[in-house]
Amino acid sequence: MRHKAKHRGPVVTMLWNTALEVRTRVAVGAGARHKLSSTLAQIGAGKRVLVLCQASTAVHWLRDVLDDLPGEDFKVTTLEVPDGEACKSTDWLIRIWEHLQERGFDRHDTIVALGGGSVSDLAGFAASTYLRGLNLVIVPTSLLAQVDAAIGGKTAVNLPAGKNLAGTYFFPKAVLADQEMLSTVPRKQVMSAIGEILKYAMIEETVAKNSDYEMGPTPLIDVLEKIIKDGFDIEDPGISGLITSCIKMKLYIVARDPREANLRRILNLGHTVGHALEKVGDFKLSHGEAVGIGLVQTTKLSVAQKRIEKAAVERVKEILIRAELPHELPKGSNKEELVSTMAHDKKRHGENIKLVLPHTRLGMVDYEVSYPIADLNKLL
Ligand SMILES: NC(=O)c1ccc[n+]([C@@H]2O[C@H](COP(=O)([O-])OP(=O)(O)OC[C@H]3O[C@@H](n4cnc5c(N)ncnc54)[C@H](O)[C@@H]3O)[C@@H](O)[C@H]2O)c1
Repeated sequence: MRHKAKHRGPVVTMLWNTALEVRTRVAVGAGARHKLSSTLAQIGAGKRVLVLCQASTAVHWLRDVLDDLPGEDFKVTTLEVPDGEACKSTDWLIRIWEHLQERGFDRHDTIVALGGGSVSDLAGFAASTYLRGLNLVIVPTSLLAQVDAAIGGKTAVNLPAGKNLAGTYFFPKAVLADQEMLSTVPRKQVMSAIGEILKYAMIEETVAKNSDYEMGPTPLIDVLEKIIKDGFDIEDPGISGLITSCIKMKLYIVARDPREANLRRILNLGHTVGHALEKVGDFKLSHGEAVGIGLVQTTKLSVAQKRIEKAAVERVKEILIRAELPHELPKGSNKEELVSTMAHDKKRHGENIKLVLPHTRLGMVDYEVSYPIADLNKLL
């Protein structure tokens, strides 16, 4: 039986235009972590602060960061979550909510993520959901987190069915990226972030053309090449400049297109192949390693489509080789499985997939390519 109301008024349809107010303070450079206390004051944070960290980072940096939060000004608690990806679970999310609730956190209070991308993803999810939003400040301690994960407002936890399946968009109030903190990261892990940094270098000119990002006097790809040739010494002052360029690029892209409707897609250069490699290989390849291979394969496709000179592939490979990163598909890769994984990518639209392809020269891309799913094998 269908229910009928006695009195029926008109159905009112309303349309809101909302704009995402994104305001993030970013400090980059050696010693930036010491700005935590003044940053909390600048964002008008409450007294309660939860510092979320992992053992392998805490052992080097927790004391140092806590010393900057005087007891008379802040009520600080810490919570150590499991190392690496294991912390991005719903179990740990609930434990954080409970921790906040038991200690009376209110909406002015703050979660500080002290760690790599795993911690900032988890902390971001917790901060965005508890009381519908606490302050979030990120002190990214890995190179990948400094140039990528801490910036851009994507938060996530993993579900048994897959990585990053639950997430929110939530922007940190501040990010303090301190190059000194990279000194305790294992070398291989630092170098794997070069896959992402190379991606930024390969999109830089197009980002400058389509956003408020301004290029420096030397293109990022030249700067990166030089720093790698010099051995990528983490104390090289040029590295802070490199980190700053990547952060600025991502901030300007996200400011223009927070929810990946168009320009933000540019950040996916090399990721269609990269994600498939990570997944098919059971995450034995790190994200940066997989993205590096993806950059080579994608540039090769651009050469085949006569978008760019063949020398571009050699240059991309050379940078990866010098950074001791893989530059070709792992031996014995199952190409059928890779193609089928790529075909299920989030960026699929019917029979096509959105692809970002290098165009004209390194630094420039076409980020609006609609590429046939049926031709994905040409990327391998
Ligand atoms: N939200 C985003 O936009 C975004 C973007 C890229 C990656 N991510 C996520 O980031 C995660 C990967 O981040 P990651 O590469 O930083 O790895 P990670 O956070 O898993 O860290 C790897 C290990 O290094 C340790 N570590 C971190 N900093 C250290 C330091 N200074 N000294 C000693 N040890 C340190 C960590 O404790 C951990 O054990 C993934 O979960 C990925 O999904 C998110």
